[in-house]
Amino acid sequence: MDLKNPEYVPGHGLIKGKSVLLTAAAGAGIGFAAATKAAEEGARAIVLSDIHEGRLESAVNKLKEETGLADVYGKVGNVAVEEDVRALIDYAEEALGGVDILINNAGLGTSKLLIDMEDDEWHRVIDVTLNGTMRMTRYMMKVMKARGEGGVIVNNASVLGWRAQKEQAHYAAAKAGVMALTRCAALEAAEFNVRINAVSPSIVLHPMLRKSAPQEFLEELEAKEAYGRAAEAWEVANVMMFLASDYASYMTGESLSVSSQRG
Ligand SMILES: NC(=O)c1ccc[n+]([C@@H]2O[C@H](COP(=O)([O-])OP(=O)(O)OC[C@H]3O[C@@H](n4cnc5c(N)ncnc54)[C@H](O)[C@@H]3O)[C@@H](O)[C@H]2O)c1
Repeated sequence: MDLKNPEYVPGHGLIKGKSVLLTAAAGAGIGFAAATKAAEEGARAIVLSDIHEGRLESAVNKLKEETGLADVYGKVGNVAVEEDVRALIDYAEEALGGVDILINNAGLGTSKLLIDMEDDEWHRVIDVTLNGTMRMTRYMMKVMKARGEGGVIVNNASVLGWRAQKEQAHYAAAKAGVMALTRCAALEAAEFNVRINAVSPSIVLHPMLRKSAPQEFLEELEAKEAYGRAAEAWEVANVMMFLASDYASYMTGESLSVSSQRG
C-alpha cells in the first residue's frame, strides 16, 4: 500500500452481527466515518446521535443509502447534558435490542492562549470532551452491567493528551483526562466483561475543520506527520473497529495512537 495515498480498506466482518451506538456521528469527520465502517464491518443495527438535528437526519439517510443497512436510527442528544445521555442510551437499548458497542466520539476544541482563557471557555471544552465521555461511559457501563452480556466502549481521545501544543491547554487536559478515564473505567468494567479502550488521533482534516482553522497552521501540522499528510477519517475509524472487535479481546484500558509521528 502507498502510505501517502492509501486505498480505502473494505470491510472484513470484524463486528458482524453487533449493534452500535455512536455520539457526534453526523459531522464530516471521524464519527460518521466510524458509523460507515461499522456498517461495512457487519454491524446489524446502528444508532447515530448528534447535537445537530438537521445534520443527524441527513446522516441517517446517507448511511442507509451508502451502506444498504436498513436498521439505522437517529437520536438527537448533547453529551454535556445528563438527561440527554440517559435518554440516548435508553433509546438505543430499545431500538437495537441492547447496545454491544458504544463509540464515544464527541469532543470539542477551541484555540486560546492560556493567559487569555476565561473560565467559561475552559469549562465548555472540558464539559463536552471529558465530562461528556465520562457521562456516556458511566451510564453505558451501568446498563451493560445490568444486561449481563458484556460489551465494548471505544473513546476518542487525541495525541494532545500526550503532547504539548500552544493554545490547546484546555483540550489537551480534557483528552489526557479521557485517557485516564479509559484506564480506570476499564479496570472496573472488566468485572462485568466490558472492554474500554481509546484511539488517540493526531490530525484528520475533514472539510469542517479545514474551514475553521487557518490554512497555514493546518499545513504546518500535516508537515509534522511522517507521511506528510493528515489521516483520512476512515483510517481512524479502522482502528476503532479493531478495538471494537474480538481481535482486541485482550486489550482494555489502552489508548492507541493513530498517528504517523511521535513527540
Ligand atoms: N479531526 C481531528 O483532527 C481530530 C484529532 C484528534 C482527535 N479528534 C477527536 O475526534 C472526535 C471527532 O472529531 P472530528 O473533528 O473528526 O469531527 P466529527 O465529525 O467526528 O464530529 C463533529 C460532530 O460532533 C457534534 N457535536 C459537537 N458537540 C457535541 C455534543 N456536545 N454532543 C453531541 N454531539 C456533538 C457536531 O454537531 C458534529 O456533527 C472529537 O472527539 C475530536 O476531539 C479529532
